[in-house]
Amino acid sequence: MKKKPSNSERSGRKRSAATSKEHSGWWGDGPVFVFLYNKRKKEALTNGNAKEILQFIGDSEHVLHESEALRIIRINNEYSHPVLFVDTGKEAGLDLLDHLRMAGYRLAKWAENNSVKTLLIPPLKEDSEKKRNAILQGLCHASYAFDKYKSKKNKKTDIEYLFADDMEIDGRSLQILFSGIDLAKNLINEPGVSLTPEIMVNIAQSIAQKHGLAIKIRRSRELERDGYNGILTVGRGSKNEPAMVTLSYKPKHLNLVSLALVGKGITFDTGGISLKPQDKMHEMKCDMSGAAIVLAAIQVIAELKLPIRVDAILCLAENRPGENAMLPGDIFKTKNGKTVMVENTDAEGRLVLIDGLIEAAELGATHIIDIATLTGAIKRALGTCIGGLFSNSDGLALTIRESGAENGEKWWRMPLDEEYAEGLKDKVADIRNITDDGPGAITAALFLKEFMKEGLQWAHLDIAGVDFTANGYKYTEHGATAFGLKTIVETAKRYATDYYAQD
Ligand code: BES
Ligand code: MG
Ligand code: ZN
Repeated sequence: MKKKPSNSERSGRKRSAATSKEHSGWWGDGPVFVFLYNKRKKEALTNGNAKEILQFIGDSEHVLHESEALRIIRINNEYSHPVLFVDTGKEAGLDLLDHLRMAGYRLAKWAENNSVKTLLIPPLKEDSEKKRNAILQGLCHASYAFDKYKSKKNKKTDIEYLFADDMEIDGRSLQILFSGIDLAKNLINEPGVSLTPEIMVNIAQSIAQKHGLAIKIRRSRELERDGYNGILTVGRGSKNEPAMVTLSYKPKHLNLVSLALVGKGITFDTGGISLKPQDKMHEMKCDMSGAAIVLAAIQVIAELKLPIRVDAILCLAENRPGENAMLPGDIFKTKNGKTVMVENTDAEGRLVLIDGLIEAAELGATHIIDIATLTGAIKRALGTCIGGLFSNSDGLALTIRESGAENGEKWWRMPLDEEYAEGLKDKVADIRNITDDGPGAITAALFLKEFMKEGLQWAHLDIAGVDFTANGYKYTEHGATAFGLKTIVETAKRYATDYYAQD
């Protein structure tokens, strides 16, 4: 029997085990047995005496508690212990692995709310390692809370999960992934006032130091010197100085693929002089999700020691009106010589990404993935469950879609049809930053494409609809989802397979 690293081990905090006095349920101190099944299909997912146990499901006499996808049934025969039935088919549209993440999440929440100390999870049928890993991920998701601003913190209990099979648990990889996920969520959830570009720079610096990454920081002076005028122009309205941070992970083993990750890091987006309406403006503290995700991704990739060169480029600025703010109608010149008309200062994400994409190409990347809360239009097109994927490469697009699918992150590939690029032509400058009538997410992606170096494989991930949940989505209650992080890490893993040793 193998034990998952407990909550306290994972978070590094020691949580006190619940005392028996705190027990509110009838299950007492002994382990609660878990039975995973699909209620609709009347199918068991766990091995063991499935048939016998399944017959209890329809038997309301034995049901002691039912809520959400959980049912607790007292088994009075030879088992004579409480069995927690978890319906792994409740939500429509999820695949099996995501159902299992939900099951893990629900189990952990239930155990925590009911002061259960030990849960026993029986062996899973077929492809059991992947399935068990999905349950473990759900358990880890459940332990995240952004409660630093609550004076009363939720009481945490130390729960032991026993997996009744003889497989090793790769607790280390899980821990590495979730310290990345928790880091990204913490950064995204942080208010704008306490997460300025400079604070992001400091955090990136300490991560680089801790994980042995090279780091290059450009503040206003260096941005100006090197011609990175996109970030500079957007950041001009704020007293908080903008910056571009480039972190580089160079493993001993090289790979033909060199991956650059570019993240939009607008630490707060008021819209600038083209001010946003007040409704939901507070959610714009999340406009640096892309930067948080690429920072967390390079941390995870370095800790996993993947044999692939990865650079993470954070495009950091605060977009707000101010004495010196960019004005609608202003024109600036990009590093590669194109002039850009800023027709709307709220279309600022694409302006800072210009610099990140150019930097990525200059570093010699063969594959570039940018990730950004770029357009409200993608939210209208794909909603809050599916991210927008744009790419000039079928291979890269497929890898990203598959990597996401395996990790409960759905991507839909959108067109990059040049016909729509017509609307980006400007009467005075080479290109303008908005079009008259959309389609907004596509024209934003086409704008970025104008700054992509020929011959490089590039994907743009628009996460404006999926990066943040106001009222909870799957295994996130409220706030940042870190959507895209697992996809990027998995994509890097897949490209890291054919490597060779450095001379
Ligand atoms: N940060 C926003 C996009 C956004 C919207 C993110 C909703 C998350 C939720 C971006 O900078 C923006 O303001 N985009 C404008 C572009 C428009 C002016 C062409 C938009 O989508 O309205
Ligand atoms: Mg904006
Ligand atoms: Zn924005």
